[in-house]
Amino acid sequence: MYCTQKITEDITYIGGSDRRLALFENMYPIPNGISYNAYFINDEKTAVVDTVDKSVSALFFENLAHMLGGRHLDYVIVNHMEPDHAATLEELVLRYPQVKIVCSAKAIAMMKQFFTFDADAYTLPVKEGDTLTLGAHTLSFYMAPMVHWPEVTVTYDQTEKILFSADAFGTFGALNGHIFADELPFGAAELQEARRYYTNIVGKYGAQTLALLKKAAALDIQMLCPLHGPVWRKDIAAFVEKYQAWGAYAPEENGVLIVYGSIYGGTQNAAEILAAKLAEKGVPTNLYDASVTHASYLVSEAFRYSHLVFAAATYNNDIFTPVESLLTDLKAHALKNRTVGLIQNGSWAPQSGKKMQEILESMQNMTVLPETVTVRSTVKEDSFAQIDALCGALVASL
Ligand code: FEO
Repeated sequence: MYCTQKITEDITYIGGSDRRLALFENMYPIPNGISYNAYFINDEKTAVVDTVDKSVSALFFENLAHMLGGRHLDYVIVNHMEPDHAATLEELVLRYPQVKIVCSAKAIAMMKQFFTFDADAYTLPVKEGDTLTLGAHTLSFYMAPMVHWPEVTVTYDQTEKILFSADAFGTFGALNGHIFADELPFGAAELQEARRYYTNIVGKYGAQTLALLKKAAALDIQMLCPLHGPVWRKDIAAFVEKYQAWGAYAPEENGVLIVYGSIYGGTQNAAEILAAKLAEKGVPTNLYDASVTHASYLVSEAFRYSHLVFAAATYNNDIFTPVESLLTDLKAHALKNRTVGLIQNGSWAPQSGKKMQEILESMQNMTVLPETVTVRSTVKEDSFAQIDALCGALVASL
């Protein structure tokens, strides 16, 4: 049975949430599920803004039929062709063959790759700044390439001053009743999921995100309707400010994130001693085991902190795999502008420090402190001087 939620008098939420999927994009854990948002605009002409993932397609079509109440569907606006939003497009065309698909030219090319229907017969391509009038509502379209795919557009409802922002301003987590962010306990945990969503999904494309924010700054936005997570009608400026930081790879926290990869505990011990010393000095510090915590959380935390410490055992004459994988991931997400300390461990030939430094030096504006700590199997009395030196260098550079 349908389950719709009113956003404004004319705009209704017709998406759905999946709480059974373990890994979003078959990669990112989503312990609290995820929502696939779609919106219905009720006007002289009817329109849907984006469709949904296959997992919630039955609900979406019930919602849409309910909202139409026997009317024709005139338009579907496809801001993003990724299947978590566009998987149901072909079925929509089959059910509503008179519909026009409004999208960028690049989206049409992708449509032909994903589907077999005659995309040219259904599509109405739009360019930057084009408008579409539904009656009382006039929509304008803006290109948002690489936020998060090249074909992406965002749609601005000039009448209600609502930005349908595609993946931008999305959050991991199902919608559990309340549709508006201001009705939720949107605290640190929820912000972490917004950050984890942005940094992992869009994080590589900071420059393109900043370009979108620049365009958005010229619009009077009273509401943000993203494709995942709650709708924002309050505190929009604060959320945009977070996006400015994330897009610019600017840290939010002047503090130290320590991530270790330890086989028998020696490297972990060194990392914990460093964390305790930093905390004693009043430095905001956080510590994770790369073998335990999924990399998506660590990528998100690395975007948050100004200073990073990687502690890794030597493994196969290289970096212990979980830390190596994390560094590769951070590089792939284009993280930059951080100060980094290193702890290496090796029972016969410590190599992980050198190898970690090589990866970091291939990234942009990563300052590696020279005070690398070398542990031989386990921390000994003489290791304290090295850990103190790294701690001092980190504190001095904060
Ligand atoms: Fe939520 Fe890029 O898809």
